[in-house]
Amino acid sequence: MSLNNEVLDCIHKRRSTRRFTERQISSGQLDALLDAAIWAPSGGNNQSWLFTAIQKKSVLLHLNQLVSEGFQRWVPDDDYPGKHAMKKRSKQDGYNFYHNAPTLIIASNKPNYENAMADCTLALGNIFLAAQSLGLGSCYINQLHWLRADPDVRAYLLEMGIPKEHTICSSAAIGYTGEKPPAPARKKGTINIIR
Ligand SMILES: Cc1cc2nc3c(=O)[nH]c(=O)nc-3n(C[C@H](O)[C@H](O)[C@H](O)COP(=O)(O)O)c2cc1C
Repeated sequence: MSLNNEVLDCIHKRRSTRRFTERQISSGQLDALLDAAIWAPSGGNNQSWLFTAIQKKSVLLHLNQLVSEGFQRWVPDDDYPGKHAMKKRSKQDGYNFYHNAPTLIIASNKPNYENAMADCTLALGNIFLAAQSLGLGSCYINQLHWLRADPDVRAYLLEMGIPKEHTICSSAAIGYTGEKPPAPARKKGTINIIR
């Protein structure tokens, strides 16, 4: 890609980061990420999402404990290999579903809304690119979506203000990164142009 364009450059440089330093992001940075999220497009302009940012370490660690316990009773509803691997990994010492990031942003949405996932995922994409542009690392975190029906996880999320009827779509781990992961090669044959 030879166009000289800051947004395209940001898209190419963003990587999923799984190693974070302990340094917390500033409140200005958090505001900018949440602002980027709410400026995403949404089906029918619903904007029915809720973005919950958790920065309190004790809350994050307790949520991690509940996720780890939740995985032990969770039965994957399909054969997606990542789910089975994650269930096993969640038993290991030091398991941390958000890669010990100092900030976790959870995207939830109203129930029975067919664009819930699409809207939240677009918003997360904005967060990831905004994070890259601010010199921060980020990673998509799926575990809370998988455990969205777990009673203990949901009770704790409810305490944090996430309505019990909301579906948990996705979440984003954010922080300063201690690594620069290599870019995974792009697969061939995934673009089709009709001119
Ligand atoms: C829908 C979706 C779910 C993902 N879930 C996780 C996850 O739970 N944990 C994780 O570490 N990475 C997760 N990822 C990150 C992918 O593994 C990552 O995007 C992929 O390996 C490509 O690397 P890149 O983002 O650096 O280009 C997810 C990405 C997407 C789009």
